[in-house]
Amino acid sequence: SRKIIIDTDPGQDDAVAILLALASPEELEVLGVVAVAGNVGLHHNANNARKVVELAGRRDIHVYAGCARPMRRHLVTAEHVHGETGLDGPDLPDPTIPLQTQHGVDYIVDTLMAAEPGTITLCTLGPLTNIAMALIKQPAIAERIKEIVMMGGAYFEVGNITPAAEFNIYVDPEAADVVLRSGVPITMLPLDVTHQIQSTPQRLAAIKAIGNKSGEAVHAMLTFSETFDLQKYGWSGAPLHDPTVIAYLLQPDLFTGRHCNVTIETASELTVGMTVTDYWHVTGKVKNVNYLRNGNAEGFYKLLTERLARLP
Ligand code: BDR
Ligand code: CA
Repeated sequence: SRKIIIDTDPGQDDAVAILLALASPEELEVLGVVAVAGNVGLHHNANNARKVVELAGRRDIHVYAGCARPMRRHLVTAEHVHGETGLDGPDLPDPTIPLQTQHGVDYIVDTLMAAEPGTITLCTLGPLTNIAMALIKQPAIAERIKEIVMMGGAYFEVGNITPAAEFNIYVDPEAADVVLRSGVPITMLPLDVTHQIQSTPQRLAAIKAIGNKSGEAVHAMLTFSETFDLQKYGWSGAPLHDPTVIAYLLQPDLFTGRHCNVTIETASELTVGMTVTDYWHVTGKVKNVNYLRNGNAEGFYKLLTERLARLP
């Protein structure tokens, strides 16, 4: 099975991604979960990550806290989408597993340096602060990371936090820039894909109908976070973002895209955080990203529902 580290700011959709990964032990071995500041502050995100691994019945998974703010900017959060705790919706018990004492960035560096090169995939579901800081602290990790599979960016679907930028990239554009220039193989799941993976009432009802605690919690989480999105977009379902990263690892043929250059705008106030995507290769720039543009929503929800049924 493929070894992964999940870097995340849970977040209802992050939580669903973590559950999907933990429900798939044959394909994915989750080595650890690292929290980063993003949807809400680091403290809440780390707390939520612990709640979610416990919900999955996986008290053995170690949870770390990474960076509390972006590299250069003030932290922008999204309580208006995710609620005060970042995981409003379900009534989950306070976590009982301890937060690991090692810093999340050190955990990432040490784990990569100790492992066989090319064996660990980083799955990023939030701002890229921890990954950029790890690359800066120990540049030798770049050659050892198998791949970074990230939810982030937008091009054909434009932005969700500003007209030009997607939230994860916008929160820490300098970090995203470091990561995209690192030379590590990168697969991006941008809004272009996640806006196609809409959680309609029927799809959410199917998840609730599984009848287990996890299905119940996912239903409550997404019903909460959807309220905002449904108003915003006026669609019949809300986009579902972060679980596409895990779905890609489980079933890559659900997605299509192409290799191209993606460069992060870090200078302009108007478009900061924009993922400028050279889809037609009009520059000669190196194709640093496997940019996914389309996703199969039916196939995705079938996979998600099937896998959630395997959890407590
Ligand atoms: C991203 O922003 C967060 O609110 C979600 O968890 C997702 O990672 C979507 O833009
Ligand atoms: Ca997220």
